[in-house]
Amino acid sequence: MATVSPDDQFEAVERTLVELREAGAPRLAELKVELLGRKQGLLTQILRSLSTLEPEERRAVGQRANQLKVEIDAVIGQREQELRAGESSGEDVDPTMPGRRSWRGAIHPVTAVIDDVCEIFRELGFSRVTGPEVETDAYNFTKLNIPLDHPAADMHDTFYLSPGILLRTHTSPVQARTMEQHKPPIRIVVPGRVYRRDPFDASHAPVFSQIEGLAVDEGITFVEFKAALDYFAKHFFSADTEVRFRPSFFPFTEPSAEVDVQCQMCRGSGCATCHRTGFLEIMGAGMVHPAVLENCGIDPERYSGYAFGMGPERIAMLRYGIPDIRMLFQNDMRFLRQFVE
Ligand code: PHE
Repeated sequence: MATVSPDDQFEAVERTLVELREAGAPRLAELKVELLGRKQGLLTQILRSLSTLEPEERRAVGQRANQLKVEIDAVIGQREQELRAGESSGEDVDPTMPGRRSWRGAIHPVTAVIDDVCEIFRELGFSRVTGPEVETDAYNFTKLNIPLDHPAADMHDTFYLSPGILLRTHTSPVQARTMEQHKPPIRIVVPGRVYRRDPFDASHAPVFSQIEGLAVDEGITFVEFKAALDYFAKHFFSADTEVRFRPSFFPFTEPSAEVDVQCQMCRGSGCATCHRTGFLEIMGAGMVHPAVLENCGIDPERYSGYAFGMGPERIAMLRYGIPDIRMLFQNDMRFLRQFVE
């Protein structure tokens, strides 16, 4: 023993330490004994020989040995952890096994349409707001210039919850709520669900969505109204999409229009979807009726505006070629999965 110098002993410890960092589990167990074994352990021997050294050398060797002990413990601890972590991905892995599919959600086509529409109107300065689905007949009808004996207010179309309380039949009541609460300038889009006593067939549902739009300010003209809806259609569909305004009637707008866009299926040449007309109706719209402004506390002499209401389900059907509106409500995974990006 005495013939082996401490330097040689330290060198042997250091060599073992290098091997330790790469050792597999069986070799690691052997190396632990080689280094720290109570009888023959390399480091144990160094420590044991300290008493035979001169005081000065004893201090230097003792210090170095202690540092190495700390390092050895750390390396062993780390290596054991690495080996444990590697256990399950080691040789017992079968790389031919099919992977586990991770399920990714998708944006529902109606939600995608709503978000895209609101984003385009955001560019034109419109904020996105919402309103209640349970309404009073005042907001749903009378403030909007719809007398309660008007066909739209008829029990036939409306789900009444109790006298005077109903499920809103359109998003237009949010127009009245907003005008009552905010002074012009007002520019809002209002996505939300509406309810009607309609059959549930390929083109009707008793619950569906609408996006209401309302702009009220000084000096708003029919020109701004047309320009805004033209901008929307060209940005939502495509830059060469033609827009057509047909005269129509709504009690809360005057003049009123039905807005058509060029059929996206046949690009205007006429097909079954557009009934050979080349155009498809996407919304009702018009200049806000002065009586509505007045009902909501806005001076019709000073302010004017336009409003529109569109159906995101219809637009989603056009955009994605969906033949039956019921597909949008059934939540059949085979249908929904097609919208995973
Ligand atoms: N509220 C109307 C409807 O549900 C649509 C509309 C909104 C028309 C705003 C004109 C202005 O049919």
